Amino acid sequence: MLAFCKKPRYTFYMNEPWNLCDSFHFPVGAAINSWNLDEKDAHHGLLSHFNAFVYENEMKPRFLQPQKGVFTLEKVKALADFGKAANVSLRGHTLLWHQDMPDWFFQGSAPGTLVEPEQLYERIHDHISTVMQAAGNSFGYWDVANERIGDDGTLRHDTFLDICKSDEYLQKAFEYARKAAPAAKLFLNDYCAEFPGSKQDGFFNELARLLEKGTPIDGVGLQGHISLYHPSVQDFKEAIERFASLGLAVHITELDMSFYKEEKEPELSLSNEMLTAQAERYKALFDMFSEEHAKGNLEMVLFWGLSDDCTWLNSFPVKERKNWPLLFDRDLTPKPCLLRLVGK
Ligand code: GLA
Repeated sequence: MLAFCKKPRYTFYMNEPWNLCDSFHFPVGAAINSWNLDEKDAHHGLLSHFNAFVYENEMKPRFLQPQKGVFTLEKVKALADFGKAANVSLRGHTLLWHQDMPDWFFQGSAPGTLVEPEQLYERIHDHISTVMQAAGNSFGYWDVANERIGDDGTLRHDTFLDICKSDEYLQKAFEYARKAAPAAKLFLNDYCAEFPGSKQDGFFNELARLLEKGTPIDGVGLQGHISLYHPSVQDFKEAIERFASLGLAVHITELDMSFYKEEKEPELSLSNEMLTAQAERYKALFDMFSEEHAKGNLEMVLFWGLSDDCTWLNSFPVKERKNWPLLFDRDLTPKPCLLRLVGK
């Protein structure tokens, strides 16, 4: 059935006569690609279910500044325009990350050398200010940095740390971001912090340290790449409450639910039991999210993709292994988990 839903200044083309996002008091979003903004794209109709968006890959530094000083910002502007017209929230993801930095970013003047810390700070400054200023005020939320904590809970040992020897680059990145877009909320985003352990402790302690130093951080992103089995809803809830206790806004930034228990498990064949279990688990999670939102602990939740045909989990951690982590099926129809969330 087709219907049209009028949102201010933008008409969403809808496949269903109802919206997922209308079932919740907080924004529910999705990671998209720039081509999904085109009304002729097959997935475009799914956008009407969400009221927050983030690009899955297209705002990573390698794509926005492939060469020093050469910025490609058209897609950022396209999402900004869409966000304004559709009156939806936008997240910018991500200004810094150890993956997807362009090679030149860390290179010193002599071949094979690393840049000095002061020059790196300059590059971080120029990247952050140019991108944020081009994006304008449509983007209310930014992941200033992604995945800064290693699995052992210490600051990630990567090229940023090799050059700077401390987390000073992070503090500076947040300061540059605050200056470039004073009204935007600034986030540090990471994975595997939805359950207790050294990763959660390390992330919590690093946020506390940065806040203590006066770093302008407003929020914490818990990615939420979970499975049908792990973590428990209770652990996830306690994680949200723990991070909110720092006085930070909490976003679930990359939610999806893998059907695999083991990393290297052979491909499963999909069953109704699995789909029902997924529906019950998503329902329990969203009940908890609603409670945490009502308590002021959770601001927004975004799915990492629109439908099962185009999730990253079809090729990670095992290439060409089908997975079913999202709310829409491969043929773009609502799955039992979506129907359960909207009470259909
Ligand atoms: C991480 C990153 C995302 C994306 C996913 C995989 O979670 O934060 O930007 O690359 O992996 O799609």
